[in-house]
Amino acid sequence: AKRITTHSLQEMKNTNEKISMLTAYDFSMAQILDAANIDVLLVGDSASNVMAGHETTLPITLDQMIYHASSVVRGVKRALVVVDIPFGSYQGNSRQALDSAIRIMKESGAHAVKMEGGAEIKESVMRVLSAGVPVMGHLGLTPQSIYKFGTYTVRAKEETEAAKLIEDAKILEECGCFAIVVEKIPSKLAEKVSKAISIPIIGIGAGGGVDGQVLVSHDLLGITKEFNPRFLRRYADLSDIMQKAVEEYIKDVKAESFPSKDESY
Ligand code: KIV
Ligand code: NA
Repeated sequence: AKRITTHSLQEMKNTNEKISMLTAYDFSMAQILDAANIDVLLVGDSASNVMAGHETTLPITLDQMIYHASSVVRGVKRALVVVDIPFGSYQGNSRQALDSAIRIMKESGAHAVKMEGGAEIKESVMRVLSAGVPVMGHLGLTPQSIYKFGTYTVRAKEETEAAKLIEDAKILEECGCFAIVVEKIPSKLAEKVSKAISIPIIGIGAGGGVDGQVLVSHDLLGITKEFNPRFLRRYADLSDIMQKAVEEYIKDVKAESFPSKDESY
């Protein structure tokens, strides 16, 4: 299969083909999602929650993100691999942003990075882009700033915050970002951004009027159970399937029916 590039995504927006994006943090999952022909795999800092069990995305380190990213890259033949630069590795310091982006690209073999924020991180975005590293933006609910927001509720519901979001999207487009994720904002606003901006807008909890959708794979597969926002559609209940399989195994071990003669040397 032909590799997806940042240019393929722009082509998809131009021809009205919706972009599919999911998270991946490891080799085995990346192989499955890539075989299904997912367009973009995001090595999200949601690994902090999903893989490590932290309450927020803040604790995950650059080294840990690089470990996840390199594992995903080895599992992918087609998808574009985008990696979150983690909290504390780019905000307020463009030199540090550049160093972090270069480490991710060199050490993991990923194809692009993602950073949260608009005007506040413009210098960092521009410096990373100047090194030839493609940057995906992320606006709306930006979990790395959760302690500033205080809650995970819908963002940009009122006029001034909505206006700032559109302004930030324009800034990121002008900087040269190849796409922007918008998280948990009213669908009317998301659609407006997608129309006002020429680069692809990829939504999570942002309605159907955008250029693509992203979800956390473990959520859509039902591996996680506790997280139940309105925007999440579960396509499977893997946690039940996995638990039942393990219960069967335990039963067989206890009953000495596993391993059988055929399963032994
Ligand atoms: O880390 C993540 O999973 C993300 C997506 C939800 C966009 O940033
Ligand atoms: Na993220």
